[in-house]
Amino acid sequence: MIRVEWDRKFEVGHERIDFEHKIFLGLIRQASLLPETDTPRERVLRHLDEVKKYALFHFTSEENIMFDVAYPDVDKHSREHAVLLALLDERTHQYKNGDILLDNIVSFLFEWFALHTTQVDTKLAKYIARDQDSRV
Ligand SMILES: [Fe+2]
Repeated sequence: MIRVEWDRKFEVGHERIDFEHKIFLGLIRQASLLPETDTPRERVLRHLDEVKKYALFHFTSEENIMFDVAYPDVDKHSREHAVLLALLDERTHQYKNGDILLDNIVSFLFEWFALHTTQVDTKLAKYIARDQDSRV
């Protein structure tokens, strides 16, 4: 079982985004702590639905921030969000059919989160910080 924990390297330096990331990661952590054999599949699926809905909310919120600051990479960044949602749907479906374990979904989500926050969201936060600096 993968250990899902918040790390300072995930901080992007934007208060709202970091706040939402902590909740998102908290949901992934909660999934990692669900006992695979003792948790009814239906309950796991309800949790995965919560993860998906929060991801959708958080991505919308991040994309709105991008629009507000006229972020040049908004399309590319938003595509990454859409891909995550599609892959999560696919994996949830596989889990439902008993083709993969919850553990696989947790690893997938945590790896995506780590990569996306440190590489993609960090760029956005830096752009916003620069944008604010130039207005002062
Ligand atoms: Fe993002």
